[in-house]
Amino acid sequence: MAIRESIAAAGGREPGSTIAAAVRLVPGPLQAARELLTIRDCLRYACTRLEAAGVAFGQGTDNSWDEAVWLLLWCLHLPPDRLDPFLDARLTSRERRLVLELIDRRCRERVPSAYLTGEAWLRGLRFRADPRALVPRSLIAEALEGSLDDWLVDQAPNAILDLCTGGGSIAICAALRFPRAQVDAADLSTDALALAAENLALHRLQERIRLLQGDLFGAVTGRSYDLILCNPPYVNAASMAALPPEFLAEPSAALAGGSDGMDLVRRILANAAAHLNPGGLLLLEIGHEASHFEAAFPALEFAFLPVTAGDDLLVLVSREQIEHAGLQVPASGAARSARRSRR
Ligand SMILES: C[S@@+](CC[C@H](N)C(=O)[O-])C[C@H]1O[C@@H](n2cnc3c(N)ncnc32)[C@H](O)[C@@H]1O
Repeated sequence: MAIRESIAAAGGREPGSTIAAAVRLVPGPLQAARELLTIRDCLRYACTRLEAAGVAFGQGTDNSWDEAVWLLLWCLHLPPDRLDPFLDARLTSRERRLVLELIDRRCRERVPSAYLTGEAWLRGLRFRADPRALVPRSLIAEALEGSLDDWLVDQAPNAILDLCTGGGSIAICAALRFPRAQVDAADLSTDALALAAENLALHRLQERIRLLQGDLFGAVTGRSYDLILCNPPYVNAASMAALPPEFLAEPSAALAGGSDGMDLVRRILANAAAHLNPGGLLLLEIGHEASHFEAAFPALEFAFLPVTAGDDLLVLVSREQIEHAGLQVPASGAARSARRSRR
């Protein structure tokens, strides 16, 4: 059966048009399975379906071609980074059916490809992915490989915390980047931590990464770090209300950051200094919330750490900068003496 996509369905006539809206037909999976032969054919068809269905990207890829390649290579058990040699290979009829069913599910169910395949890739690393945690895509992983180096002047961090670790991808990237460091990974969600445990096992890092459950720094009472990495929930309420279905499939507690997106970030900055060693750094992902961040912390001096996706998506701030801005909550007597004894 053909799938009817029309300009009318996308919001009526084209601007300025006086003629009736055109109708564009996309063959359904059964017809496609009869007529498409090669991987190239299937990729072209997949792009057409994904575009016509108006699926949302941003959970591992940012365009229909990359999304189609990911789904096809996964479905065919082909190496995720080697498409060219296979482009003109024909599929068996069963392979075609499976590929087209997968594309069909992505378009109809509007769930992230990572949840359909059960895996996600970040900086060349494979992670298990499912609705227990956000699909791994943090920009912190890229910063760990590059721009953060300029700020680690004296030595590599020995003690690292991945706060809000979700499925554990940032903690794993950090442990691999800094092989001598002990890494703690904390989250409120026991579901997310269960997935993180599977990912630690996948990368054989159970000995190096400790999983901790609790409300923000409540999970690491009395501990301090040279580097805290954190991709918190930071989506503001207006953006939350407009989320496409793929993002609604992720845990809302992983995304929602309150009216200006800064609810969790405020609590993190109020408590981070107490858990940073002298000279320690907090690397915080804020996505496209730079204006809300700057409005929330007008007295804070910090640096934006550039990544490919943009120059103002990651914030880097030191313990001393947080203290200088007066953001930290006053330490209790017990916490004060614990900090004195660590120096
Ligand atoms: C944006 S996700 C980041 C997940 C992972 N670090 C990543 O980059 O893929 C935010 C995470 O914060 C966790 N979270 C939300 N509120 C929290 C809280 N009060 N304390 C600790 N973790 C929290 C969620 O469970 C979720 O796993």
